[in-house]
Amino acid sequence: MHWVKAVKVATTTSVKRNKAVSHPASSVIIRKNWDPVALIVTLGFQITLMSSILFSRVTLIALIALFPVTGFAENAADEGLLAKGEYVFRISGCSHCHTTEDGKLLAGGRALVTPFGTFYTPNITPHRTAGIGAWTAREFRQSLHLGIAPDGSHYYPAFPYTSYTRITEQDMLALYTYIQSLPASDQASHPHDLAWFLRWRITAHFWKWLFFRAGEFQQHPAQSAQWNRGAYIAEAMAHCGECHTPRNLLGALRSGMAYAGNAEGPEDELVPNITPDEESGIGNWSHGELESFLKFGELPDGEYAAGSMEPVTLGLQNLNPADLEALIVYLRALPPIKNHVRK
Ligand code: HEC
Ligand code: HEC
Repeated sequence: MHWVKAVKVATTTSVKRNKAVSHPASSVIIRKNWDPVALIVTLGFQITLMSSILFSRVTLIALIALFPVTGFAENAADEGLLAKGEYVFRISGCSHCHTTEDGKLLAGGRALVTPFGTFYTPNITPHRTAGIGAWTAREFRQSLHLGIAPDGSHYYPAFPYTSYTRITEQDMLALYTYIQSLPASDQASHPHDLAWFLRWRITAHFWKWLFFRAGEFQQHPAQSAQWNRGAYIAEAMAHCGECHTPRNLLGALRSGMAYAGNAEGPEDELVPNITPDEESGIGNWSHGELESFLKFGELPDGEYAAGSMEPVTLGLQNLNPADLEALIVYLRALPPIKNHVRK
């Protein structure tokens, strides 16, 4: 039993970067509190300004000369943040659920059929009324980190904030900046069609009280930096466990069975055991086989990943070599669990 039974997979995860990137909201936030580079630049600017007033006209000339440099540094910070945000976006698979096959990117409307009813993903494009264009970065982070909407109501866990809560604040800001730079769509969000007793969002609150603990990913000091990076990719961004870990009757992940496979995955698919158990998991895959799978979606027998894993591998293709290696290290170090997943 699980929340998302029928994620109709997007056939493509390709995303066109909008080159007109200077979104006003993002640059305000950069200047206000988040980005250390922009902060230093702004502070430097102010110190220069004060000294120019206090000391001499020479400083004033120097200040004028500084203008283009300051502007350049800010654009560079913006570009860096956008590139980082796009990376987080692709690895986290936001478009898989928030885009329909022939719909506009992130305009929502994908039906997720679950035992509890059908959820329709909302429009999360930067449209100010139909989407999340009027949201602040803080409201955005609150939705993914706490599962709480700007009006204070609670989200259902069909939205996997259960994993996204682990995304760091910096990555969340980058993701926000990137999504706000994409084209807006005015498509109206479709209401969910849920069992009557779940229509009140208070039930989501109750579920969270039982099963959800918010918190950023914590480094495990006993493990290597590489393992920790792999764990962050799998558990915070790529949310592998949301499909590969079986769920209890109330749709919560069974932590003792992490990655051991799920007979009732999205679209009622069978999701395989990916722990290193040699018999029921992928313990007998070589390092190269796992790498080819994550990079190209190619299975050791030459077949390609199908179903809801297909868009996941399309997203994972964007992993940089160091992150791909970190993910492999993490997966191969998982505790092996013997679990033959069958229908
Ligand atoms: C497994 C499918 C799934 C994935 C993947 C997913 N979402 Fe969602 N998302 C949902 C559903 C379903 C809802 C509606 C939840 C509700 O109404 O309680 C939602 C709601 C939201 C909302 C609230 C919108 C509003 O109008 O209140 C935001 C913001 C959001 N998602 C952003 C993201 C981002 C960013 C990502 C990627 C990091 C992402 N989602 C990935 C399914 C998904
Ligand atoms: C949206 C659900 C979903 C997510 C998220 C997901 N997977 Fe999968 N995965 C599947 C499904 C379904 C299959 C079976 C695909 C098939 O039958 O071709 C699969 C297959 C696999 C396989 C092949 C195993 C085998 O024995 O054939 C591996 C390895 C794998 N996934 C790793 C991962 C990793 C690593 C992540 C996170 C980075 C991940 N998956 C995230 C649904 C998912």
